[in-house]
Amino acid sequence: MDLIVHNKVAPAVNQVETHPFCQQIESQKFLVENKIQIESWGPFAEGRNNIFSNELLLSIAARHHKSVAQVILRWLIQREVVAIPKSVRSERIAENFDVFDFELDTEDMNAIATLDTKTSSFFDHRDPAMVKLLGQAKRNT
Ligand SMILES: NC(=O)c1ccc[n+]([C@@H]2O[C@H](COP(=O)([O-])OP(=O)(O)OC[C@H]3O[C@@H](n4cnc5c(N)ncnc54)[C@H](OP(=O)(O)O)[C@@H]3O)[C@@H](O)[C@H]2O)c1
Repeated sequence: MDLIVHNKVAPAVNQVETHPFCQQIESQKFLVENKIQIESWGPFAEGRNNIFSNELLLSIAARHHKSVAQVILRWLIQREVVAIPKSVRSERIAENFDVFDFELDTEDMNAIATLDTKTSSFFDHRDPAMVKLLGQAKRNT
């Protein structure tokens, strides 16, 4: 809102940490209300919390004959969250594109909703040490 109020041009896209463990449900509502597209930062949480071997995600993936990565991407797409996954491996890049021939049902979507911790898997924005570190990094760029 600070950016919208103090600038002539409102942001079109906001890339925020969004993955099954940090789902950004409230933030997405705010962004939609303000006509800003949400984009996932770290759609796979950079592999944290053993995301690729999560039991729930594995069971959904098995039912659809897909991988956990594909389930996550499909879940983001169905939530209208833009996702641009990164991989250095060509087979994974192909796998990450191959998400348009299946659909997660309401039961799948509701199950994934239970994984939300509503907190970042990377930064604690209320931790003074972390805030100092981020400030330092910004000054150095
Ligand atoms: N705004 C900016 O200037 C800027 C700049 C850079 C990055 N970013 C953002 O930073 C975020 C973080 O990117 P990230 O790459 O660190 O996190 P990420 O997208 O959460 O995770 C990528 C990791 O998952 C692995 N992976 C990709 N596809 C996979 C698959 N199908 N199966 C298993 N593993 C798979 C990749 O490993 P491999 O590569 O080994 O496959 C990589 O280590 C991204 O959303 C990116 O858009 C933003």
